[in-house]
Amino acid sequence: MRFVVTGAGGFIGSHLCDRLLEAGHDVVGIDGYVPFYAREIKERNIAKAVTSKRFLLHETLIEKADELESLLKGADAIYHLAAQAGVRASWGDDFAGYVAHNILGTQRLLEAAVNAKVPRLVYASSSSVYGDVNELPLRESMALAPVSPYGVTKLAAEHLVHLYGKADGLSVTSLRFFTVFGPRQRPDMAFHRFLKAVRDGQPITLYGDGEQTRDFTFIADLVDVLQCSVVQGRPGLVYNVGGGQRISVLKVLETIATITGREVRIDRQAGQKGDMRDTLADTALAARDLGFVPKTPLATGLKAEWEWICS
Ligand code: NAD
Ligand code: UGA
Repeated sequence: MRFVVTGAGGFIGSHLCDRLLEAGHDVVGIDGYVPFYAREIKERNIAKAVTSKRFLLHETLIEKADELESLLKGADAIYHLAAQAGVRASWGDDFAGYVAHNILGTQRLLEAAVNAKVPRLVYASSSSVYGDVNELPLRESMALAPVSPYGVTKLAAEHLVHLYGKADGLSVTSLRFFTVFGPRQRPDMAFHRFLKAVRDGQPITLYGDGEQTRDFTFIADLVDVLQCSVVQGRPGLVYNVGGGQRISVLKVLETIATITGREVRIDRQAGQKGDMRDTLADTALAARDLGFVPKTPLATGLKAEWEWICS
């Protein structure tokens, strides 16, 4: 099959490209190298994929690309992962970038996908669309009230995806990813920052009391379900994808101390505006339709990320 992956140079996009190429598919990668973090990191992420004859990488922002339709022509499906990520950075003047990359970019991609007659699109949505809900686990049918501007843009884009899916015959499915970790994790994310600080003998920065919890998801488990979703995901449906348990940030720090055998010094800072307090995914729908079972325990995944940080 021929796939288009937007956000191909990023953490998740680059792993997905590697997997699709390994499975023998043709892949067109699109990345605009938004300056949220260094271009060199993204070039390293995608270094293996670019050696494949079945991979083509196009450097462009989707909201600005004139040639988008021709890039999409002949594709069997699009994985739409390009976005300005980062929950805590989405306040203030930087919000303009979130609107451009996440909302305008998605609308532009959907128009081009319909014109190019691409039959299928999978959208990378986020647990941040839920906001702080009193009831856990989070189910796809719950009311959505994001608590960060980032979450608002991810939800707006999710709505756009499903609107085009209804009106224009493009078959769409969204996956709501819950805090993903592992090798190549973005440098602004907690585990990357924690492990780097421990490696360098620096204190880690802890936001709030550390009792906030996340349903951390290992990258390989996410890529498994991404691969399945394009065939097995029901058109118009949204699926949670989480690691299967709720773990506090303090518990993560204990696990890091055990895995690394090093002291973890903590610099406590105030809780951050836009952070959800707790996340836990109800993954019954993904289990039913996509055969999703998270396989990687936190300690195993953290060890893989630690080895990558030290490499
Ligand atoms: P990332 O920043 O590593 O990757 C995103 C890539 O998209 C980057 O390489 C960036 O340059 C590119 N990009 C951004 N906007 C673009 C645009 N308009 N046109 C072209 N390229 C553009 O982020 P990631 O962590 O790999 O996240 C991938 C997707 O998954 C995003 O949509 C994000 O919202 C979603 N997501 C991530 C997580 C997580 O825990 N990492 C959780 C939930 C959802
Ligand atoms: C992550 C991704 O960064 C988002 O792109 C994604 O949309 C979101 O998951 C999601 O699941 O939808 P977040 O949960 O904030 O967002 O992930 P981390 O950056 O790994 O933070 C986890 C927790 O650690 C948060 O409570 C955060 O406040 C805390 N943290 C983070 C620290 O205590 N110190 C740090 O240095 C960084």
